[in-house]
Amino acid sequence: MPRAMLSLLLLFLCFVFLSCTGKQAGRAEELYTKKCLNCHSSSIICLHLGKDKEYWDETVSRMLHKNNQQVSSEVVAMIVDFLSQSQPGAEQVCQRTGSQS
Ligand code: HEC
Repeated sequence: MPRAMLSLLLLFLCFVFLSCTGKQAGRAEELYTKKCLNCHSSSIICLHLGKDKEYWDETVSRMLHKNNQQVSSEVVAMIVDFLSQSQPGAEQVCQRTGSQS
């Protein structure tokens, strides 16, 4: 395969990959807004940003059990990733309110 075509192909793959991860992030944010801001504001969550995945794994599961929400492990994992990867003070977590969805 000519080199130019190969680099075009690589460029294309990068693009596909980037747009997918972008969508995933948007979805996680949406799930977070829907599942986590019904009972309390985002500020209580914001306070704990910077903690590790283990903390969020335990906390998200505990929170969702409070009102017996049936949530797939995939959804839990997305929220856990979203929160454990957000920096302290992150806008996408701290500036959210339950009315936005
Ligand atoms: C059914 C209501 C409810 C939902 C839904 C809920 N929480 Fe909570 N959350 C609470 C209550 C009540 C507290 C106060 C402490 C407690 O009772 O555990 C709390 C406290 C917290 C705390 C403070 C630290 C702690 O361990 O107490 C964090 C962080 C938190 N919630 C995160 C979340 C996240 C993330 C979600 C979404 C996955 C979520 N909550 C969804 C009711 C809820």
